[in-house]
Amino acid sequence: MYNIKDYKNILIQIRMVCLSPERDTQGSESFYQPKMAFMILFLLLCLSFILNTTNAQPRNSIIRPGSSLSPNSNSHWLSESGQFAFGFYRYGNGFSVGIWFEKIQQKTVVWTANRDDPPFSSDVTLLLSTKGRLIVQPKQGQEILIASASQLASSASMLDSGNFVLFNSSSAIIWQTFDFPTDTILPGQHLLPGHSLVSNASETNHTRGKFLLVMQTDGNLVQYPVDSIELEAAYWNTKTYGAGDNVTLNLDSNGTLYLLNATALLVQNITEKASVSGKPIYRATIDADGIFRLYSRSFNQFDNWSIQWSSSENKCDPKGFCGVNSYCTLMDRDPVCQCPPGFDFIDQGQKDLGCHKNYNVDACTGKSEQMFDFDELISVSWEVDAYSSLSSIPKDACREECFRDCNCEAALYQIESQLCKKLKLPLRFGKRELSGQVITLLKIGAALDRGGERKQKELRVDVLIIIISCLTLAFLVVVCCSVLVYRHRNVRKKGISNLDSNGLVEDVTLRSFTYEELKHATNNFTDNIGKGAFGTVFRGVISNGSRIVAIKRLDKVVAEGEREFNNEMKTIGNTHHKNLVQLLGYCHEGSNMLLVYEYMRNGSLADFLFGSRLKTDWEGRIAITLNIARGILYLHEECETQIIHCDIKPENILMDEKGCAKIADFGLAKLLMPNQTKTYTGIRGTRGHVAPEWWHQNSPITVKADVYSFGIMLLEIICCRRSLDMMFQTMKQYL
Ligand SMILES: *[C@@H]1O[C@H](CO)[C@@H](O)[C@H](O)[C@H]1NC(C)=O
Ligand SMILES: *[C@@H]1O[C@H](CO)[C@@H](O)[C@H](O)[C@H]1NC(C)=O
Ligand SMILES: *[C@@H]1O[C@H](CO)[C@@H](O)[C@H](O)[C@H]1NC(C)=O
Ligand SMILES: *[C@@H]1O[C@H](CO)[C@@H](O)[C@H](O)[C@H]1NC(C)=O
Ligand SMILES: *[C@@H]1O[C@H](CO)[C@@H](O)[C@H](O)[C@H]1NC(C)=O
Ligand SMILES: *[C@@H]1O[C@H](CO)[C@@H](O)[C@H](O)[C@H]1NC(C)=O
Ligand SMILES: *[C@@H]1O[C@H](CO)[C@@H](O)[C@H](O)[C@H]1NC(C)=O
Ligand SMILES: *[C@@H]1O[C@H](CO)[C@@H](O)[C@H](O)[C@H]1NC(C)=O
Ligand SMILES: *[C@@H]1O[C@H](CO)[C@@H](O)[C@H](O)[C@H]1NC(C)=O
Ligand SMILES: *[C@@H]1O[C@H](CO)[C@@H](O)[C@H](O)[C@H]1NC(C)=O
Ligand SMILES: *[C@@H]1O[C@H](CO)[C@@H](O)[C@H](O)[C@H]1NC(C)=O
Ligand SMILES: *[C@@H]1O[C@H](CO)[C@@H](O)[C@H](O)[C@H]1NC(C)=O
Repeated sequence: MYNIKDYKNILIQIRMVCLSPERDTQGSESFYQPKMAFMILFLLLCLSFILNTTNAQPRNSIIRPGSSLSPNSNSHWLSESGQFAFGFYRYGNGFSVGIWFEKIQQKTVVWTANRDDPPFSSDVTLLLSTKGRLIVQPKQGQEILIASASQLASSASMLDSGNFVLFNSSSAIIWQTFDFPTDTILPGQHLLPGHSLVSNASETNHTRGKFLLVMQTDGNLVQYPVDSIELEAAYWNTKTYGAGDNVTLNLDSNGTLYLLNATALLVQNITEKASVSGKPIYRATIDADGIFRLYSRSFNQFDNWSIQWSSSENKCDPKGFCGVNSYCTLMDRDPVCQCPPGFDFIDQGQKDLGCHKNYNVDACTGKSEQMFDFDELISVSWEVDAYSSLSSIPKDACREECFRDCNCEAALYQIESQLCKKLKLPLRFGKRELSGQVITLLKIGAALDRGGERKQKELRVDVLIIIISCLTLAFLVVVCCSVLVYRHRNVRKKGISNLDSNGLVEDVTLRSFTYEELKHATNNFTDNIGKGAFGTVFRGVISNGSRIVAIKRLDKVVAEGEREFNNEMKTIGNTHHKNLVQLLGYCHEGSNMLLVYEYMRNGSLADFLFGSRLKTDWEGRIAITLNIARGILYLHEECETQIIHCDIKPENILMDEKGCAKIADFGLAKLLMPNQTKTYTGIRGTRGHVAPEWWHQNSPITVKADVYSFGIMLLEIICCRRSLDMMFQTMKQYL
């Protein structure tokens, strides 16, 4: 088929031939040439018009009894304009019957018959039987009903609206797919009171999935997880409760989604008229991820659907995305299910099934209350069905309350309101929240069996031996390392100049980010992964989504000039050691100070030691200790500017995927406390890890402070308990 452009080309060519000088010399003949050319053109145009109209000729859209389709012949019944098709489409390793957009390349199914049935094999026939029933007839066996109309059909039609209808002999509609929507409504379609849309199980599997959008008979349009249609589980609604008992959801051809009541009066516009140029087509679908979206696209067959509106921006909003005892968190804007500490996935392969406790003790029958420990999960909210709640108590008291109550399996503590809610498992609808205002305290199995007195004595002797041997070992290692490192120093210095040519230069230089960049990288600071002494840590993505990083927002920095900040960044940026968490960049704009670090997937040493038990064996812990010792040695002895950490503790040791320990938060002490190299008061650091002389006096801080903290941490690593643990009786609180 030609289009206008082709005709223009033809015209130009013809004219060129006609008006060329040689022809011109032939006199009068040439005078008629252009006329002839136009006549040819006219004929061509007429021909194309005829062809065009025959092409758009109604492909007889009335389907008579006896008509049939089979999967293999790739035949289907088209609507008048050819926009929609009804028939077999490929699904799994077979075929399903449904309706799809025929003119567009991206296969978009809007309706499926018997969606929960397995696919058909290729030897079946779809038939409008002479008896007036729409069925699928297998080679042998029972026929399957596609449309359950109350009367017999005398014809059927695929309408241009995307509605497939059956008519009786007086041409009244007796059955239509618009009355039985699956997950999509089209312009002109209504969702009637009591009816619902159910999401696909996945993007490629159209069996009934996990989420529901229901037009309630109370006038409210609400989204629920399919298996808990109850008030607490609703995650989106139009707040039109009480708008009448006959409210319908409508979509019109201008892309407006709205609710109408029985007298056809507007109850609410859910979306305004979409401002898309051209004449776009629309559909509204509850997607497999539970979000209800309005899509538009142009008629261009290579175009893609674009989202006009969605019921929620946060993919963790749909409740029930993650199973029981697990919580949803955004990673790179995609939702991911995670288990709290002390819990494991029920099925590693299907993380959305939920988590279960990785120990099994019934607290109310067990004898010793000391079999339990607590772990904390910050800023994760759950559906709270508390059996008891206490107000205006501090966090430790909340923990104590739960600890003493054998029925309490977890507690939710709201920092601002000082509210403590005692909970039982399973926990539902976990979701990481923006604000760090809520802490989940989880009762978990203790790291060590602290059964009887005698056992504990034995343990102490053991511990003493282990400590002594370990200290000796560490000392030897430190000495050996210093000697080795000292020797190789010169060699290494020479090596550095080669780095540039090895393409490592990007890793060596610090990058300065703008605040906007980091805001974008962290999805507007939504995905926070922890809170440290300096401020909040967020997960972010840089380099166009190719690298996951941890972004630390410094909140408590004593305001210092830009120069100091930049100097400090330079010092930290100049450190390169495999046992230090690498600083990748920073941002300093006004009062916003942010640091961008490499992302450490496997959490902190504290999680390893005090989290769910039996994660680390003795060998592993020795390796970790040596790694930390190497890192500290480097900070103290090897890097250009000596760095005193001031806060060595398990929380500040992070683990990478390979189990290698790395020191975090180094070099920040100066930012917190100005003039710190000589003297300062009010030492930062953590109680229990700081040497007593620094607690009580204003002595100048030296590397020895870190050595003391390292020693305390060594004890913690050996014993797998905190040096100061309020969970024990007074005498045993200090390790
Ligand atoms: C779709 O998912 C269901 C279970 O959710 C499964 O039984 C079925 O085999 C899946 N179908 C395809 C084609 O993957
Ligand atoms: C066709 O259906 C309409 C509506 O259900 C009904 O009023 C009419 O009588 C039917 N016609 C025949 C011939 O059954
Ligand atoms: C639902 O599943 C079908 C597979 O039969 C697929 O073609 C369709 O795109 C899916 N719909 C959504 C919204 O994912
Ligand atoms: C429909 O809505 C209009 C305006 O909101 C209201 O006046 C009317 O009573 C409603 N009709 C029904 C049947 O509820
Ligand atoms: C869509 O918008 C056009 C122009 O604004 C208007 O004429 C038409 O009536 C609208 N159609 C519907 C169904 O609201
Ligand atoms: C609901 O309203 C529609 C028209 O908007 C009407 O056809 C239908 O009969 C009503 N149903 C009930 C139960 O009132
Ligand atoms: C609802 O949307 C329609 C179409 O976009 C518009 O004409 C109407 O003014 C809107 N009504 C309200 C109350 O916003
Ligand atoms: C539509 O999506 C496909 C793959 O998802 C992509 O290759 C294509 O470029 C897109 N087309 C447009 C017009 O964006
Ligand atoms: C980011 O958060 C700020 C305030 O918290 C808000 O004003 C802004 O609209 C948000 N931006 C986006 C893109 O979510
Ligand atoms: C990131 O993507 C944008 C456009 O998508 C491109 O202009 C830019 O160069 C990319 N940046 C990097 C570092 O790849
Ligand atoms: C890191 O964490 C992942 C998942 O949490 C775990 O599978 C892996 O074994 C851990 N790696 C090490 C070295 O502990
Ligand atoms: C830090 O030291 C400088 C000069 O040594 C002094 O001017 C400044 O006041 C000190 N800052 C604080 C907070 O002590």
